[in-house]
Amino acid sequence: VSAEAANETIAIIGGTGDLGYGLALRWALAGVRVIVGSRELEKAQGGAARVIEQSRAAGRPLDADLVRGLANPEAAAQASVIVLAVPFPAQAAILKSIRGSLRNSFVVDATVPLAATVGGKPTRLLGVWQGSAAEQTRELVAAEIPVLSALHHVSAASLHNISNALDCDILVCGNHPVEKARLFALIRRIEGLRPVDAGPLEMARIAEGLTALLISLNRRYKVDHSGIRITGIEPSGETKS
Ligand SMILES: NC(=O)c1ccc[n+]([C@@H]2O[C@H](COP(=O)([O-])OP(=O)(O)OC[C@H]3O[C@@H](n4cnc5c(N)ncnc54)[C@H](OP(=O)(O)O)[C@@H]3O)[C@@H](O)[C@H]2O)c1
Repeated sequence: VSAEAANETIAIIGGTGDLGYGLALRWALAGVRVIVGSRELEKAQGGAARVIEQSRAAGRPLDADLVRGLANPEAAAQASVIVLAVPFPAQAAILKSIRGSLRNSFVVDATVPLAATVGGKPTRLLGVWQGSAAEQTRELVAAEIPVLSALHHVSAASLHNISNALDCDILVCGNHPVEKARLFALIRRIEGLRPVDAGPLEMARIAEGLTALLISLNRRYKVDHSGIRITGIEPSGETKS
């Protein structure tokens, strides 16, 4: 367990949603401090209570102070890492609501601009002027706040089912090596996930698009948890310097 990861607090904005809840659950089970964020305090507290109850029911009770629920701006203010897990059409408004709370922290954007969010096909992407949802986030938060893009390919369904062994690479895009290393440490805390350095933030254009491909594969193979593995690289996911 890396010392860095032990000192992080992760706020999950949209932590009551499918992906956000799954990440909160898995990180809490791995001993990482998590704040479930929501637009509504009560909903956030309900999400945190659900994480605690699901962990207890699985015979893996959590330390009392490991998971809390807070309204998104308070959640962001108290965290060192902010994971954005909201539907694409909500992204701008949510970022506006937490922009003033981002201090000494960085943002990890998991948003995928799926056409389904505006009534289109789930296997298609919306065009985003900036190139990707993550690059839109880059524009919407202060320049001094690092923005990374990651966590698009691990399915919520596989995260929710605690007894399910995860098996997925997590492509991490961004231009901030220090924050990338911090996120790598956090991803490694969840067994079965391997972080892979996918290059600069603009590579999010491709990473986000792969989610639409996975949704198509899920339909074709009648599963809800397809993921990705990159072959031919260092098993640790580290790059060679
Ligand atoms: N589901 C997956 O397997 C998966 C995998 C990879 C990436 N993603 C991406 O992660 C993001 C979240 O996906 P999801 O499936 O977790 O979505 P979801 O189940 O719909 O949950 C998203 C959460 O966002 C919050 N939210 C804030 N503003 C909203 C608005 N205007 N309308 C609806 N919800 C709003 C809601 O929380 P409050 O109501 O509590 O504020 C909601 O619980 C999406 O961009 C998606 O493409 C999802």
